[in-house]
Amino acid sequence: MNWFTKFTNSSIGKKIFMAVSGLFLSLFLIIHLIGNLTLFGGPEFFNSYVSTLSALKPLVRFIEAILVLIFLVHIINGIRITIENRKATPEKYLADKANENSSFFSRNMGLTGSIIFIFLIVHLQTFWYQFQAQHDGGQFFNIVIDQKIGFGNIFVTLLYCLAMVLLSFHLRHGFQSTFQTFGVRYNKYGKFIEWISVFFWLIIPLGFLSIPIYFGFIKGGF
Ligand code: HEM
Repeated sequence: MNWFTKFTNSSIGKKIFMAVSGLFLSLFLIIHLIGNLTLFGGPEFFNSYVSTLSALKPLVRFIEAILVLIFLVHIINGIRITIENRKATPEKYLADKANENSSFFSRNMGLTGSIIFIFLIVHLQTFWYQFQAQHDGGQFFNIVIDQKIGFGNIFVTLLYCLAMVLLSFHLRHGFQSTFQTFGVRYNKYGKFIEWISVFFWLIIPLGFLSIPIYFGFIKGGF
């Protein structure tokens, strides 16, 4: 076994892969949120923003390919860590001590991650796919508020709201775990690091949540 395979299969290796891929995905979330907030500028503003992005297609495709790789690393390592933890913790111990030894968030990383994954598949099959099929650049905003696949549909709006709450839970434990992996939680930068974590698990999901709430419940009038 060479050093890389050894590292990938070690406990700390998996945790480092998980933490680094999670950090990159969080950076994507910031950029994605900033882009999505242009929806509040109205149809013209949003459509011209997406059209500008479409003009940079090769760059966007390159970033999307890297994103797929990072998602794969995160998901595969997440599954491996969950299986490893299950094997290491006997059933009875899990049932008796779960509440004492770990938080709700940490015990449900597999569950929250899986539901976010299902959301992502639906999200890409609807918004992303429909955006690729557009050629005149005038319809992007209408896709987002569409009666069937957009926030004009109460079930889509509710799915997005649920996914954003779960995303918040997932990021909350994810950041705690990342700081623990890198041993920076209790050093002199502890307070600053705590603020970064709050930004990611609270502010970013709230920013995303504002979109289905506004376009579904307030403007959509459910
Ligand atoms: C209110 C919440 C959200 C809205 C309105 C939204 C909107 C969109 C739209 C319109 C696209 C198509 C962009 C294009 O092709 O140019 C897209 C793509 C995408 N979204 Fe979201 N999104 C939301 C939340 C999320 C979340 C929470 C994630 C990750 C967990 C996510 C992951 C992605 C990915 C991976 C893509 C494809 C990559 C890309 O083209 O940027 N989205 N989203």
